[in-house]
Amino acid sequence: MTDYKQYIAEKIVIEGVSTEEIKSYLEIPPTPEVGDYALPCFRFSRVLRKPPVQIALELKEKFVCDDVVSAVEAVNGYLNFRLDRLSFALGAVKNVLAAGENYGNSDEGAGKTVCIDYSSINIAKPFHIGHLSTTVIGAALYRIYKALGYNAVGINHLGDYGTQFGKLIYAVKHWGDIETVRKKGLSELTRLYVYYHEQAELHPEMDDEARAYFKAIENCDKECTELFEFFKSVTLEETQKIYGLLDVTFDSYAGESFYNDKMAPVVEELEKDGLLVESQGAKVVDLSAYDMPPCIILRSDGASLYATRDLAAALYRKKTYDFYKCLYVVAYQQNLHFKQIFKVLELMGKPWYKDMVHVSYGMVSLEDGAMSTRKGKVVLLADVIDKTIEKALEVINAKNPDLENKEQTAKDVGTGAVIFGALANGKIKDIVFSYDKVLNFDGETGPYCQYTVARCNSVISKGEGVVDEGAGTVKEISPEEFNLAVLLADLPHVIKEAAEKYEPSFVTRYAVDVAKAFNKFYFGYKIVSEDAAVTKFRLDLTKATRICLKKSLSLLGIKTPERM
Ligand code: ARG
Repeated sequence: MTDYKQYIAEKIVIEGVSTEEIKSYLEIPPTPEVGDYALPCFRFSRVLRKPPVQIALELKEKFVCDDVVSAVEAVNGYLNFRLDRLSFALGAVKNVLAAGENYGNSDEGAGKTVCIDYSSINIAKPFHIGHLSTTVIGAALYRIYKALGYNAVGINHLGDYGTQFGKLIYAVKHWGDIETVRKKGLSELTRLYVYYHEQAELHPEMDDEARAYFKAIENCDKECTELFEFFKSVTLEETQKIYGLLDVTFDSYAGESFYNDKMAPVVEELEKDGLLVESQGAKVVDLSAYDMPPCIILRSDGASLYATRDLAAALYRKKTYDFYKCLYVVAYQQNLHFKQIFKVLELMGKPWYKDMVHVSYGMVSLEDGAMSTRKGKVVLLADVIDKTIEKALEVINAKNPDLENKEQTAKDVGTGAVIFGALANGKIKDIVFSYDKVLNFDGETGPYCQYTVARCNSVISKGEGVVDEGAGTVKEISPEEFNLAVLLADLPHVIKEAAEKYEPSFVTRYAVDVAKAFNKFYFGYKIVSEDAAVTKFRLDLTKATRICLKKSLSLLGIKTPERM
């Protein structure tokens, strides 16, 4: 497989800069008139101690053109490369078609394990819109790492520890019943939980009984443990529906309570390392030297904390999976928490603290401002997805009322729109979710990309049997065809970058770019014509486009209906 960026990078020698690094700086210029690839030379100013303009000129002098790179120019500190466009496009299309659905995969991650902690929902709490990002970003990274040959381990670090479970047991025992919970699921658990809090405000002594129930769970009391497991199964069963829709899977559901018996050794180790100090009765790791508040390990009553369980989980994951990297896809509100955890691991002398990454992301809210978690009023993720599917069906009914399989298509389009909407921007940006925006068939959306795949399908079936093997080769190609081919050649690189930067939005962006480039080509040229050589090339280009679009969308968890 010819990797054109690799090819160009190998032809450039800069002392002290690796080929890999040069390759990573190569860009596709915003307008093709400038060139087909460009190297911004300011990147080397520091190592070479020269201004970019001079570096560009010197590199140009040394560069030897050949039958792949036909020209090179130095402009304003950029080195611009022009390719032999026809042979480039033919080569790119051939590569994609030869690899098929494996296009973009690699084995660079062979032998390496990446743990990804994502979704990590809280038991007996509603699965709300706030969980959308962690779930779809994490699942996309999971698929991306797998495509690159890594052994990915998806972990749902369940929030299944804390006095709230004692409160729920109290509520079920006093005012609820198992059957109703079984029937109504999470909404009944939420109702009971909210009611508990209303009552506890009037009768604070309730909290003592609730705390006792929680202790009973910890001490493996039969009845309380059974109830706790029941809450867990009710929650998981209900969330499983959403995971199914979004095509999200996990390899482990080891949640916070899993570390019940694994925290004492961590506390011991911290104690032995002399890292624990007393502070108002609590045991903490002092992080003032690093400008951080102390990391609390044990409360004054001896109870463990969220951080204690995360430390135990980190040690457990290292021991169990010997990970190359361990990612936490968690909202930016927890930036400090993870900084503290990673610092404590460093102080404990774990060199692998460097392999821990907090993949932080922004907030999702709805256009009408609804997102409050107060008093059980939350926007359920299931409601958002259902409503998007419903609206997708309306759009389909208006655009293509005779479509077969409308219900399934609406499902794929609706969920695709939600996923794409959540992944469309850089992950750290806050998102305002709008139904109309994510469902706009002409915007930079999931449905737009899916629609383009359906368009490819219909072009390809029209071309079925039109050209045979002896069709010959095209003699020239248009700028639109060339642009599309450049993008198709870039997919392997995009997937790699997305993994390196933990940024699935690179793939989302890519899919939109490919769809736009294809539509320009589609509206500008006749794909099936009398000229057999041209027809063959254009059909191949369409097939290669379909492969790249389907591949990028599938990495994001988005399905591509045959017709739309
Ligand atoms: N359950 C937590 C929450 O909803 C997120 C857990 C993230 N993972 C972790 N290992 N701390 O806030």
